Amino acid sequence: MSSHEYIHYHGLLLPHAAHSTESLEYAQNFSVEDTDVFAVTYPKSGTIWMQEILPLVLNGGDLTPVHTIPNWDRVPWLEEKRLMEVVDKLVSPRALVTHFPFNLMPPSFCTSKAKVINVMRNPKDLMVSSYYFHQMASFLEDPGTFDEFMDKFLEGKVLFGKWTDHVKSWKHSELGDRITYITYEEMVQDLPAALRHISDFLGRNLSEEVIQKIAEHCSFKTMKANNMSNFSLVPKVYMDNDKSHFFRKGITGDWKNHFSTEQLARFTSVIRKELEGESFPLPWSLD
Ligand code: A3P
Repeated sequence: MSSHEYIHYHGLLLPHAAHSTESLEYAQNFSVEDTDVFAVTYPKSGTIWMQEILPLVLNGGDLTPVHTIPNWDRVPWLEEKRLMEVVDKLVSPRALVTHFPFNLMPPSFCTSKAKVINVMRNPKDLMVSSYYFHQMASFLEDPGTFDEFMDKFLEGKVLFGKWTDHVKSWKHSELGDRITYITYEEMVQDLPAALRHISDFLGRNLSEEVIQKIAEHCSFKTMKANNMSNFSLVPKVYMDNDKSHFFRKGITGDWKNHFSTEQLARFTSVIRKELEGESFPLPWSLD
């Protein structure tokens, strides 16, 4: 993919490589089922991790799908072209992911009983992750310097727009017991606990043995080695794991190795301003 042109969709930038006018229309008309489960993430917050976790939690720890189906077909993105190709192969209960803000979810989602797991990640770390992702993915614009990329991120001139808009939209979605929130940081700190949370939310009664098995399979190291999840099936011209591996570090706090004092102050002041007056607390300190 040589073109870095993005599709402009309701103020969001979406890469042509995975999205099209048809796929966005398809997403809008998508028939959501009551048993569907959506993992909602702003890009680089743990999407692929959820594509591994959800099938395992839903099927009681059977490793077959995560060993035989690529992540993008196993738990497709609502908004991407691929969904139309694989929708008939999805088994109920279906798991999907989306980077959409709440307001772009299809009407059938709102009237359904489908459940949502919203994974949030410290924005400083996800911005660092995104910076490296832009270097390895040829279908994304060159990020420029880290400083330039930070400006674009804060202005929302990046994939799926402003992080703050995404967070606000889901925090105000008022989905009641249809939605739960979890952080990337909680998952890194104690994956079995996060899996218990997800399993309880989805009404699965998984034994401790199964929880431990899923946790082991969903560790950074195991996933990095899983060819069905590490993007090694994607030709190098699109995603070059030698430039920066998709499974880059998988840690929290890497922003400290990248932000200068001035950048931290700039970042914090913009994010604080955008969230001024919001009633929900952020799970991390911005400083
Ligand atoms: P880093 O670039 O900081 O390493 P997404 O899937 O939303 O694009 O997010 C990608 C980020 O999630 C990357 O972060 C990736 O390493 C991290 N990630 C994916 N699977 C993980 C796992 N099992 N444990 C920890 N981090 C994981």
